[in-house]
Amino acid sequence: MTFSARPLQEHIGTEIQIQPELLASAPVVARLRELLVQRGVLVFKQLHLNDDQQLTLARLLGNLREELGKGIYKITLDKKSNAHAEYLKGSFLWHIDGTHDDIPPFATLLTGHSLSETGGQTEFANSYAAYEALPQATKDKLEGLKVEHSVELSMSRAGVEATEDNLNYWRSFPAKQHNLVWTHKSGRKSLVIGCHASHVVGMDKQESDALLSELLEWATRPEFVYRHEWSPGDLIIWDNTGVIHRVEPYPLDCGRVMHRSTLMAEEPFA
Ligand code: SIN
Repeated sequence: MTFSARPLQEHIGTEIQIQPELLASAPVVARLRELLVQRGVLVFKQLHLNDDQQLTLARLLGNLREELGKGIYKITLDKKSNAHAEYLKGSFLWHIDGTHDDIPPFATLLTGHSLSETGGQTEFANSYAAYEALPQATKDKLEGLKVEHSVELSMSRAGVEATEDNLNYWRSFPAKQHNLVWTHKSGRKSLVIGCHASHVVGMDKQESDALLSELLEWATRPEFVYRHEWSPGDLIIWDNTGVIHRVEPYPLDCGRVMHRSTLMAEEPFA
């Protein structure tokens, strides 16, 4: 077998089986991109790509963000390896990457290198599918609403200590307002929600809190979620523009290390 694609859940996730050398083939890359946007998450079990291979695939799939000039960011909560490790506690809560920007990341490639014995499973919820399944009356109610997103709030919800340094850093990202319902160039719609969503602009606080938590609860119902149990060498790619994600908490000093590459989106929140 050279290439196969198997749906994992009805609304999210496709497992790809492929020989690594085929990842350089233009028709294969085009098919992967198509599946990524349709299915939200692609899972390649025990593919064991090294960093160079991961970067090559990333560059074929889209516009690689050169993080610290390297294109590979090591996700670890170990403070000895990453001075800003504690910010990653934010990843324990449902979120979309980059809501503090106008143009968020399109997709993330993540390879599991060292895993935690407890926790560390990553969960993905398809917010395109969640939006599509909403009753028409709710869709009508959401139309035109804007939500303010705040880095500071997401960090405080994640329990990261509000030291003076941290506060200064978080506040260097001004709050951003985005449409609650993102209408993509393709015409599809997704929900822009998560732990960074502070309030619906112009709505009474109680009503806004209730609406945002109701929507997050809806979008993360089991039928919209794929939960990944990692094995070393697994590669996951997810469409950050239509998927909300989180990782189940794991001990800070457990040695979990994941190698991440990020692709920038080709369209702003709209
Ligand atoms: C993230 O990108 O939020 C982290 C995912 C993970 O560590 O599994």
